Amino acid sequence: MAPSRPEDGTPEPPLWEQWAEQRRQLPTGERLQKVLAATGWGSRRVCEDLIAAGRVTVNGELAELGRRVDAEHDLIEVDGAPVGVKPGLVYYLLNKPSGVVTTAKDTHGRKTVVDLVPNEPRVFPVGRLDVETEGLLLLTNDGDLAHRITHPSHGVEKEYLVHVRGRVTPGELRRLRDGVDLDDGRTAPAAASQPSPGVLRLTIHEGRNRQVRRMCDAIGHPVLRLVRTRVGPITDRNLRPSDWRELSTAERRALTEAVADPARRYDRPT
Ligand code: URA
Repeated sequence: MAPSRPEDGTPEPPLWEQWAEQRRQLPTGERLQKVLAATGWGSRRVCEDLIAAGRVTVNGELAELGRRVDAEHDLIEVDGAPVGVKPGLVYYLLNKPSGVVTTAKDTHGRKTVVDLVPNEPRVFPVGRLDVETEGLLLLTNDGDLAHRITHPSHGVEKEYLVHVRGRVTPGELRRLRDGVDLDDGRTAPAAASQPSPGVLRLTIHEGRNRQVRRMCDAIGHPVLRLVRTRVGPITDRNLRPSDWRELSTAERRALTEAVADPARRYDRPT
């Protein structure tokens, strides 16, 4: 018979469950003020003051002094702005022109997207645009975020403006929306519209090689010009071809949220 608790006579849980409970209660992770200090927010003392002043949240909840965090996975924000876990991270948005290669170094000596942004610190492109494709491309030295953006499980949306040969019929648009059969399988449902004859707005969340071009080929309308106009929440109508800029804090936050694990997404207070 299980031993009973002296106070109320209910049976005590078995010993291994008590141990597991004790383990769950052991502090894990690093102290929040230490993580904040490591990201350049000031001394630990300054960071403690930030926490005490109620300016720091972890996964959307107000943080208390002494809180421990998993610096790799928890979303830490100061005044609503996400805190990079590692200092020195940069995030650029480039309007890639046609004729530039999406690679860090081209073996044929062609101009690359990395040549268009500052060379220190070294960054790399997030995903790929074909050499002829124009439009928005992120570059960063944040490998974790880059991986999350490109990983199919996060399904980050990419929106394109596509000039195609000929006028697309409603039935063909429906095929783009429902999924077209390509040699590497059927494409996932997409958003597709034709704002003017022969110009499509197409939103996909897969990242297969030359996917938009192959989808348009499959419905009999080869691509004449392809421009990426949005990556997840990031868009910019004013960035001229070959120009770049840093992402704003709000954009970084939106991007971090777009790729957060579903269990870690939370509703922000309005
Ligand atoms: N789809 C394509 O076909 N090419 C690109 O560059 C991007 C998406």
